[in-house]
Amino acid sequence: MQIKNICCIGAGYVGGPTMAVIALKCPHINVTVVDANPDKIKAWNGPLDKLPIYEPGLAEVVGEARGRNLFFSDDIPNNIEKAEMIFMAVNTPTKTEGEGAGMAADLRYVETCARDIAKYSKSDKIVIEKSTLPVRTAEKIKEILEENSTDIHFEILSNPEFLAEGTAIQDLFKSDRVLIGGDETQSGQKAVQALVDIYSNWIPKEKILTTNVWSSELAKLASNAMLAQRISSINSLSALCEKTGANIDELSKAIGMDHRIGPHFLKASVGFGGSCFQKDILNLVYLCKHYGLDEVAEYWHQVVKINDYQKDRFAQKIIDHFGGDLKNKKILILGWAFKANTNDIRESPAIDVSKKLYKNGANLEIYDPIVEQNKIYKVLKSWEKFKNDIIIKQNQSSEIEFYDAIVLLTEWEVFKSYNYQSNIIFDGRYFLRKIYE
Ligand SMILES: NC(=O)c1ccc[n+]([C@@H]2O[C@H](COP(=O)([O-])OP(=O)(O)OC[C@H]3O[C@@H](n4cnc5c(N)ncnc54)[C@H](O)[C@@H]3O)[C@@H](O)[C@H]2O)c1
Repeated sequence: MQIKNICCIGAGYVGGPTMAVIALKCPHINVTVVDANPDKIKAWNGPLDKLPIYEPGLAEVVGEARGRNLFFSDDIPNNIEKAEMIFMAVNTPTKTEGEGAGMAADLRYVETCARDIAKYSKSDKIVIEKSTLPVRTAEKIKEILEENSTDIHFEILSNPEFLAEGTAIQDLFKSDRVLIGGDETQSGQKAVQALVDIYSNWIPKEKILTTNVWSSELAKLASNAMLAQRISSINSLSALCEKTGANIDELSKAIGMDHRIGPHFLKASVGFGGSCFQKDILNLVYLCKHYGLDEVAEYWHQVVKINDYQKDRFAQKIIDHFGGDLKNKKILILGWAFKANTNDIRESPAIDVSKKLYKNGANLEIYDPIVEQNKIYKVLKSWEKFKNDIIIKQNQSSEIEFYDAIVLLTEWEVFKSYNYQSNIIFDGRYFLRKIYE
């Protein structure tokens, strides 16, 4: 099937960059990204240095393709109607109420998409799950599409996204693999081929994996769970190192040199953040419980529990250092993003750590080189008993004036050049260890 028009619903951290790269690499296809939030669309159509997402290389890609074959629009109905292929890249947060609250994925945004697709489609479509979804969601989507339309054939594919924020463009250019799950029917395989043809414009064939829909849906959850599990494993060992006199960096190196284990994701830190790991593992836990696999559920749940333990333990170490009381202690928080090279603050360890320090009386100042000040302020305002007494700094000179402590929570490159000599540093990220050894 020849695809001429793609529509992607959801102009977020996944929809924006993935579609920009598809448009760049496939100039023969028109790609339109739509979103229910008109302000976001306005920003995507605005100046390149003020796109709603910060990602190295993104502005250049958007700059080249936008207006040529890449478009951002809030006209959802027309763009659904026009497209032969529709990606759903909407958010799938953890449910906050109802059955499965605190664990299961909230599928309401995906369901709204499916209803919109059914409502506005006048011809057959390939509908692609780009969002991370619980295994067997395609069944539910199919049900919604069929209940809300007549005489239109929808083929559902799963094509989870593996990009990492901060390196999204490089990850999209040179994906380790592209995963496409489809039905084993003839029409299912035709749809799979149509998507394979798109990625083949820049991804080598051997890196495009095709599977059944359920394997593809589950592989994304499993992949995030395995990555997070490595972080929690090494973090759990960091606690034991502190008790025994072993050095966690030496331990990481020794373990990582085993070719069966490898060195990646083996640095101890204050813990993982970001919108995905925690919610995807909780979702996996929920699924295991749903299928009666309580032991398996408990195994994966522990990965999240250790992450919470590590964040809390780190903040407690700072409090203990000052004898259990942070009153009148001036503490500079460096970094609010959950990792370097992104402005995403979702589940950022900086938030949990700062909150605990604040609750214990610390006088906080916060600086992040990219995260917008209003985004930081919004989080602070949501804290119980917040008294508007935290300074969010617009600039931070590399000459750090005297603080009782500096807490490094994002591995921004610029922080490496600061002159810290007279400060007490609590390093939640590993990058400065070498400098101060
Ligand atoms: N952020 C990542 O690094 C990453 C990586 C891989 C996979 N994922 C997965 O991709 C999905 C999207 O994540 P994200 O980080 O891009 O989320 P996001 O919150 O940045 O973006 C989602 C966008 O969808 C829009 N939206 C929601 N419902 C809509 C509707 N019915 N119609 C139109 N627009 C709608 C929202 O306004 C928002 O702009 C999630 O399932 C996530 O788990 C994320």
